[in-house]
Amino acid sequence: MTAIPLYVLGQSADPDSERGVECPGDLPPASDPDLIQRAQEAKDTLGEKVFILGHHYQRDDVIAFADVTGDSFKLAQQAAAHPDADYIVFCGVHFMAESADILTSDRQQVILPDLAAGCSMADMAAINQVEEAWAVLADAGISDVTIPVTYMNSTAAIKGFTGRNGGTVCTSSNAKAALEWAFNQGEKVLFLPDQHLGRNTAVLDLGLSLQDCVVFDPHLPSGGLTSEQLKAARMILWKGHCSVHGRFTAASVEQVRTRVRDVNVLVHPECVHEVVTKADFVGSTEYIIKTIEAAPPGSSWAIGTELNLVKRLADAHPELTIVFLDKAVCFCATMNRIDLPHLVWTLENLVAGHTNNQISVDLEVARWARVALDRMLSLPGSGAGSNSD
Ligand code: 13P
Ligand code: SF4
Repeated sequence: MTAIPLYVLGQSADPDSERGVECPGDLPPASDPDLIQRAQEAKDTLGEKVFILGHHYQRDDVIAFADVTGDSFKLAQQAAAHPDADYIVFCGVHFMAESADILTSDRQQVILPDLAAGCSMADMAAINQVEEAWAVLADAGISDVTIPVTYMNSTAAIKGFTGRNGGTVCTSSNAKAALEWAFNQGEKVLFLPDQHLGRNTAVLDLGLSLQDCVVFDPHLPSGGLTSEQLKAARMILWKGHCSVHGRFTAASVEQVRTRVRDVNVLVHPECVHEVVTKADFVGSTEYIIKTIEAAPPGSSWAIGTELNLVKRLADAHPELTIVFLDKAVCFCATMNRIDLPHLVWTLENLVAGHTNNQISVDLEVARWARVALDRMLSLPGSGAGSNSD
């Protein structure tokens, strides 16, 4: 059975995360017919000195040069597991490269080929806002019994805050284990910055109710919540979301069920609660890939995640019918900032002895962020630790 057409229309705009950083020196033009050969030659010349990590949402022509592909959890593990590489080239977004810098040794350099590859969700929780929120929780008398849990998709400063205050990092692969751990340490969780992953995990995996959850809006006085609401809550969810996964709606699920007979709906837990509850399967990008790999030939799937990954799965599995969950355009614009010209520019500069776009986290921030990341890597089922010098 052939895959039915995807709704590939172009890139979504995500200007919040545009860092507007110029690349020093000349970027090769995208029209250069030798880009693939140039990338391969530079990679071959660097040999084992370079290790290239590629997130599943990267473009195909970039993924082709990745030594390993994965979701944000697997890539953090892989960065920690390669102490011999001098250069870790991170084809993903800024918060992922920061985590790789924290988990690798001081000798290693972590490089993000385009500094404009940020994440609008990570930008929704600034450290000063989170410190102010913690003061609100202290005034309500609950900060001592609240454990902060931050999604990997947050800045190093937020991970540092979490480490300092007895909390952990999680990813969409281990959010359930992280929340179980946190509720063993305290009575409540402050979950940052993705309200949807927090709510979906608390309600669907831990059996909490929607009434146990409140949303803290950093743009409102006291988060828009009373002391009584904060005291009654089990999950205090930060008002953040993913601009890609947040676009899927309950109507997208209903419509695809009328368009495609016997379709299985498979979505990422960054989607809103109504989408996740209407879907048949929910999980991280690694889970989505494994589910498709195990799907019976001839079955039909509507996938609610980033479009580069959905396209790649559709191409790799002609025995299945794979459609994008919504007609709306859904590339992650900042993930797409990493393209072949930036990769070639990065690798050729390394060959010439120049490191561009090194991601280097402040040492004090990194110390506490690493505490939180190491707690995550020690969660049941994680099976990896970070490198020490
Ligand atoms: P995972 O890689 O944890 O599935 O998260 C998806 C995502 O949005 C990455 O930015
Ligand atoms: Fe951020 Fe969403 Fe893009 Fe992931 S997919 S990098 S969470 S905007």
